[in-house]
Amino acid sequence: KPIYVLSGPNLNLLGVREPEIYGHQTLDDVRALCEARAKSLGREIVFRQSNHEGELVDWIQEAREKGCAIVINPAAYGHTSIAILDALKASDLPVVECHLSNPAAREDFRRHTYVSLVAAGAVTGFGAASYELAIEAAAGLAR
Ligand code: DQA
Repeated sequence: KPIYVLSGPNLNLLGVREPEIYGHQTLDDVRALCEARAKSLGREIVFRQSNHEGELVDWIQEAREKGCAIVINPAAYGHTSIAILDALKASDLPVVECHLSNPAAREDFRRHTYVSLVAAGAVTGFGAASYELAIEAAAGLAR
């Protein structure tokens, strides 16, 4: 089964958006790294990004129907979205949270994420490598 790798709002702007925080790699670069890492683990990924909360909820439900583990960088929705938390809870599948930056080292409002209530763990602060490490963790959880 593929691992769903989902990214939330504004991550389509990676590379140009606050590069001092999020780095110079684009989302396509991140996708390529994720595909390579998944391949090295003998896995496939479904890699998607949306700026819309409901679309992310739909994709989480799709992963649930297929029984696929989820890696999610919820971006700002991690801090606000009970709908995404509830969708992840309903999925009853391994969830690994990931962030490019280290939210704990930034503003106070980034310290809490709803996703962390349901995630097996989180990988934060390593830029694109956060995604690769999260995929590795998810592959280990969903054999
Ligand atoms: C982020 C951190 C969030 O606080 C922020 O809202 C983002 C990106 C990250 O990957 O570091 O959009 O999820």
